[in-house]
Amino acid sequence: MKKTDNTDLRHWGSATRALHSGVWRSEQRENSLALFLTSSYIFESADQARAVFAEEEGGNIYSRFTNPTVAAFEEKMAALEGGEKTIATASGMAAIATVFLSLLSAGDHLVLSRSVFGSTTNLANSVLARMGVGVSRVALSDLEAWRKAIRKETRMFFAETPANPTLELVDIAALAQLANEHGILLVLDNVFCTPCLQLPLALGAHMTVHSATKYLDGQGRVLGGAIVGQQELLMKKVFPFLRNAGPSLSPFNAWVLCKGLETLSLRMEKHCDNAEKVAHALAQHPLLTGRVRYPGLASHPQHELAQRQMRRFGGVLCLELETREQAYRLIDGLRLATITANLGDTRTLVTHPATTTHGKLAPQDRIQAGVTDGLVRFSIGLEDVEDILDDINQALQQV
Ligand SMILES: Cc1ncc(COP(=O)(O)O)c(C=O)c1O
Repeated sequence: MKKTDNTDLRHWGSATRALHSGVWRSEQRENSLALFLTSSYIFESADQARAVFAEEEGGNIYSRFTNPTVAAFEEKMAALEGGEKTIATASGMAAIATVFLSLLSAGDHLVLSRSVFGSTTNLANSVLARMGVGVSRVALSDLEAWRKAIRKETRMFFAETPANPTLELVDIAALAQLANEHGILLVLDNVFCTPCLQLPLALGAHMTVHSATKYLDGQGRVLGGAIVGQQELLMKKVFPFLRNAGPSLSPFNAWVLCKGLETLSLRMEKHCDNAEKVAHALAQHPLLTGRVRYPGLASHPQHELAQRQMRRFGGVLCLELETREQAYRLIDGLRLATITANLGDTRTLVTHPATTTHGKLAPQDRIQAGVTDGLVRFSIGLEDVEDILDDINQALQQV
């Protein structure tokens, strides 16, 4: 396997990086990335096997540890996000669980945003609590609350920005400064933006996690995840966990994700174009005055921060209706948008977070996360924008 020369990487924009970084070629000189579907790798001799296991010699051993197709995805992600190293995982939750379990120990303390994906909250409340890791939950945008939650044993801050599904933000640079003042690791979930729209590491975060299942694949096909950060920390602490516990990305999914990354910048521009148009049009709808949440609207309480730290405002928007009945009538009235618990697909998707993605949260956790009964989340797709709007407008007549 030969890797192409990436010395120009620093000068490349994100579209070029997605296409030309992480290009591994075999002696077959294939143009499109090869898919290495193999669980293990062979050795020339028993002594070579010993030497590779003893790390005296480099090379692949077993695909739970490393695989060339997975390595290509990892390199592309590191190049896009601006991190030294990426570790790929089987899903976004595998990435988050790996970060928690490899970097936190009994007696440590985690400060977790209240507004995170439901499974992240559940993981902290169950597994981390059982392990003896203290968890404090704070309002995402309230920097004073983050400061007050710090204890001498605080090891990690974890947040999503924008948060799923509330689209609340945190000032990444300010939170990173607070984390640095106290020697705390800041980990950010960058799923809603992808590296095309927001670069948390450049703003001071120490590590990012991704559900590659979302925009990175972008076509609703496979699960995947990524952890991006400093080489030393990832290789010393996180990689040994992956190697032994095995939440590794499959080579097939890595291949699909590499193909997804090749069109990421194009897709993200169109997602943003469509979502901006839909958000502005719906904000004018008489039924929806003050009920459209989108970081690109001047009415978003953190619009100015969004302009500062995001390149554009993303493909997800929420409508905040009064009741669950209204939310269900809107969702059931849609003809084009499909009801599903995913986001970041080519097609427009709709979700009722309170009874699905955040349905297993304790009622007080759900309310604190801002997931009200009337909240409807749209992941705006790549269709003709007039068709998306016609669909939502006709469904609104039934609310
Ligand atoms: C913000 C965010 N983080 C993490 C996840 C988990 O990702 P996965 O479903 O790939 O495990 C999701 C899934 O919806 C998400 O929206």
